[in-house]
Amino acid sequence: MNILAIESSCDDTAAAVVRDGRTVLSSCVSSQIEMHSIYGGVVPEIASRKHVEAVSGLADKAVSDAGLTKADLDAVAVTYAPGLIGAVLVGVNFAKGAALALDLPLIPVHHVRGHIAANYITHPDLEPPFVCLCVSGGTTAIVDVRSYTSMAVLGSTRDDAAGECFDKVARVLGIGYPGGGPMDRLAQGGDDQAYPLPVAHVSGAELDMSFSGLKTASLNLIHNAQQKGEALDLPAFAASFGKAVSDSLIPRVMAAARQTGYGKIAVAGGVAANRRIRADLQAACTQSGDRLFLPELCWCGDNAAMIGCQGFFEFQAGHLAGWDLNAYATRDIALG
Ligand code: KG4
Repeated sequence: MNILAIESSCDDTAAAVVRDGRTVLSSCVSSQIEMHSIYGGVVPEIASRKHVEAVSGLADKAVSDAGLTKADLDAVAVTYAPGLIGAVLVGVNFAKGAALALDLPLIPVHHVRGHIAANYITHPDLEPPFVCLCVSGGTTAIVDVRSYTSMAVLGSTRDDAAGECFDKVARVLGIGYPGGGPMDRLAQGGDDQAYPLPVAHVSGAELDMSFSGLKTASLNLIHNAQQKGEALDLPAFAASFGKAVSDSLIPRVMAAARQTGYGKIAVAGGVAANRRIRADLQAACTQSGDRLFLPELCWCGDNAAMIGCQGFFEFQAGHLAGWDLNAYATRDIALG
């Protein structure tokens, strides 16, 4: 089954063709980062307009890069939640038009379910049930992936997402947007013990997380150093920050793995590219005996191939949309 997939939930317009949920025939991404970096963050109105300009051409390119014609397509899948509402609406309306014109079924896909499904591309043998740590710019959650389409959140951040925290700290340091990648690179070789930063515990909710305290402590540390005219050891600061994020995430994922007893842990989302988090998880899994599944770096960030993968499993479960499909800024992953 060949699925044309569309993703436009934030600042990447993407189209892909995926066969049978695991084979990526093509994947095209048009990034808007250059445009938004002028403002130090995503400007929703600009994002929506750029999606409108790019989506149609990208979909055509995805079909031709796959070596197919439109007649070879069997369905259209699209991210319908969560995300910037104007941005998601562009993809949803394009997908509706394409499905209607080509007389194909329309499959709605939850963006975070898509991130989880990116693991099926890298690991053909990965099958639910497993526990997945979902960490991106908008989401930080530990998800119980019971089956391809039945999921429940075991724990999540009470405030900021981990990626948002990386981005905010990097912006104040002036090292670029989005900040996770530059912080990760800066941290290489830095002394992670140099700047002790807080790791929050949410009392009564063992698997929940909180990053606002870490963000505030980091920003205060940077501002204090600036006010005193002291130079920060940037690699050491970035390494200390990466350690604090990792120390917030890893013990909770491991606790979720113990709780469920699946023996399989996956990671998903843009922050899943982080070297410290990947290495710490690998070490924790080596110790616990859990099998760890890491997506290839190219499938960590937003892309449409992951939407095509999840779309296949949603289709198999009979989850199809009508022409009244709406877009949602927020939506529980359990609802699909
Ligand atoms: O999944 P994604 O592309 O978009 C969302 O769905 O949010 O994730 C983007 C986030 C940004 O916050 C970015 O700074 C972060 O992923 N990120 C990283 C790394 N690469 C991207 N964070 C930490 N380390 C990285 N290497």
